[in-house]
Amino acid sequence: MSLYCIVMRRKECNVGLLIITFACFIYVTMVTMSLDFIRITPRYQLTLACDESTPNASQVLESSLELVSLKDKSISDRILNVGEPTYPIMLWNKYLINNPDLCNMADNISVLIVVKTDPLNFERRNIIRNTWSNYTHHSVVTRVLFLMGKVQNETIQENISREFDEHLDILQGDFLDTYRNLTNKGVMGLRWITENCMQAKMVVKVDDDAVIDTYRLLEIVYPIYETKTRYILCNIFMNGKAPIVRDEKHKWYVKDSELKQIGLLDKTIYPPYCSGFTAIISTDLIPAMFGIAHLTPFFWVDDVYLYGLLPLKAGRIDYYSLASNYTFIYKNAMNCFSSKECNILSVAEIKADEMMSIWDVIESYHLKQQIPQDVK
Ligand SMILES: *[C@@H]1O[C@H](CO)[C@@H](O)[C@H](O)[C@H]1NC(C)=O
Ligand SMILES: *[C@@H]1O[C@H](CO)[C@@H](O)[C@H](O)[C@H]1NC(C)=O
Ligand SMILES: *[C@@H]1O[C@H](CO)[C@@H](O)[C@H](O)[C@H]1NC(C)=O
Ligand SMILES: *[C@@H]1O[C@H](CO)[C@@H](O)[C@H](O)[C@H]1NC(C)=O
Ligand SMILES: *[C@@H]1O[C@H](CO)[C@@H](O)[C@H](O)[C@H]1NC(C)=O
Ligand SMILES: *[C@@H]1O[C@H](CO)[C@@H](O)[C@H](O)[C@H]1NC(C)=O
Ligand SMILES: *[C@@H]1O[C@H](CO)[C@@H](O)[C@H](O)[C@H]1NC(C)=O
Repeated sequence: MSLYCIVMRRKECNVGLLIITFACFIYVTMVTMSLDFIRITPRYQLTLACDESTPNASQVLESSLELVSLKDKSISDRILNVGEPTYPIMLWNKYLINNPDLCNMADNISVLIVVKTDPLNFERRNIIRNTWSNYTHHSVVTRVLFLMGKVQNETIQENISREFDEHLDILQGDFLDTYRNLTNKGVMGLRWITENCMQAKMVVKVDDDAVIDTYRLLEIVYPIYETKTRYILCNIFMNGKAPIVRDEKHKWYVKDSELKQIGLLDKTIYPPYCSGFTAIISTDLIPAMFGIAHLTPFFWVDDVYLYGLLPLKAGRIDYYSLASNYTFIYKNAMNCFSSKECNILSVAEIKADEMMSIWDVIESYHLKQQIPQDVK
């Protein structure tokens, strides 16, 4: 049976059962006719029944779905076997705050830095704007985008709007900004890039408690990966390294029903995935991941969803390890950048004021490196 019927049901179209039934009937008829119709019909149905905020969201979906094998029975069977799956809200929900021109505001953007942020973290965003994300290197143009959900306090919302007016670098989605909604935040980012920033070559996704050595990123890392496609550079948990937490008292406990939706009920470990504090992704993978999100029922552990479940279905991906290039420990970062040679790219999970002193030591490390050795 049809993938698209399910895709439509997920969208909770108020047009209702009638259209869905009709659409499914049309679809099944078309399947027997020709492959071209398979591709054309769903676009027509989606536009007709469910078009919401983005005029061409269905177009985006259509092109990204081409990257997924429609004939892959294991995918369609799994979707059919979960009963009433729910899907990420931000596949279709509107944006509350958005600057669609962010990536066009400079010629030849190379790197889009996407920061997953808590709406209340005004200070961290300002530190990021004033420190590592503002470093530019010759022709490698960067832009930063902050991803957040909505807040219920109007005073704070007004403050966020003011912040946006000043910097034009916030994307706010129509979902509550909560821990269990982080997957929606991530999917919103995938969608926005698919719609607005495919000209960037590299996407650097980080948390708002991270400091990136942008000197290293732009001068050493970017030139190596600039021409590569279909890669993710991250700290990856390979097979068997990340157990599924089944202890009810644990923060990451997941329920049977949640595992059933994504087809992992009988598993004790997650498929390989990245920890999300820093992940560098080739832009060409983003629409594929966004498309696959339409076929992947919601799962709230965002790192597993975004960097595990989605890439799993995207075909060949080259993973590169960041294992020897990060630290979560402030003191280690300070020591490393005070030494002669430091290969750290990302310092994460650190306090706001520590972000500034880390950036200071990163800057002086690189200024020192630039002084030729024979000049004393
Ligand atoms: C989406 O629409 C905008 C403006 O209507 C257009 O510039 C953009 O190219 C469209 N994107 C796709 C993928 O069709
Ligand atoms: C942008 O890239 C194009 C093609 O590579 C080049 O011709 C143009 O000069 C670049 N613009 C700037 C401002 O660097
Ligand atoms: C970023 O750096 C430029 C110059 O290098 C400076 O003019 C600008 O004010 C800085 N932006 C922020 C937000 O600090
Ligand atoms: C909204 O946030 C402001 C600033 O943090 C606070 O003073 C106010 O009490 C909050 N209002 C509500 C209704 O929580
Ligand atoms: C409002 O925003 C400014 C800067 O954008 C920030 O410094 C301040 O803490 C925010 N105030 C509240 C109440 O959120
Ligand atoms: C996620 O956001 C939606 C939409 O705002 C909201 O209804 C839901 O309660 C949120 N979920 C959680 C777990 O916070
Ligand atoms: C990670 O560190 C190694 C040395 O330990 C270095 O060769 C490599 O270039 C670094 N990778 C990144 C992405 O910075």
